[in-house]
Amino acid sequence: MKFFIDTADLAQIKEANDLGILDGVTTNPSLMAKVGIKGEEAVTNHYKTIAELVDGDVSAEVVSTEFSAIVEEGKKLHAIHPNIVVKVPMIKDGIKALKWFSDNGIKTNCTLVFSAGQAILAAKAGANYVSPFIGRIDDASWDGVELIAQIANIYAIQGWETEILAASIRSSLHIVKCAEAGADVITSPLEPILGLLKHPLTDIGLAKFLSDAKTFK
Ligand code: G3P
Repeated sequence: MKFFIDTADLAQIKEANDLGILDGVTTNPSLMAKVGIKGEEAVTNHYKTIAELVDGDVSAEVVSTEFSAIVEEGKKLHAIHPNIVVKVPMIKDGIKALKWFSDNGIKTNCTLVFSAGQAILAAKAGANYVSPFIGRIDDASWDGVELIAQIANIYAIQGWETEILAASIRSSLHIVKCAEAGADVITSPLEPILGLLKHPLTDIGLAKFLSDAKTFK
């Protein structure tokens, strides 16, 4: 399972990258706004900085909703850096654009996916990644991890190669459950990734080893 970080914050991207386990980055317009990126030039430069920092796919989202505009925007995003993956929303024109990008060799990530039916359409359109938002599904009293398992089962039966990118991760347990459910990728904020390190018995055990080590040094 690949690890992506879900942020546009350069310090957090660097911290995750320094762990040596980062495979890519996902962003969205809300995450870009959160770090104060404004204007087309600043947006372009920010994506370029991220793509040069991390050796892996970087999802950059279109904000157009009409087929030709999505295609034009996606082509511009793709031209920023070879590792840029065009993130396209799960709407009718988005599906058409995913097919166009697929036919023209541009990698895509289909975002805002909340059902197995939507994941089927994304795979049929040739999306490289499909992004079910598991935290938001949980927020609505459905089971986000169950959706990951359902999509993994469908894709395995059908032999579809679209990678399941579990998004809207809220906890370290989400990451563990997504690994069990068959996600190909998780994209997570930094904290749930760092949370995977934690166990009180590790801290207690290390303290004992370090204190015993003083007796024989
Ligand atoms: O990648 C999509 C993700 O950023 C959505 O996360 O926490 O806004 O539901 P969240």
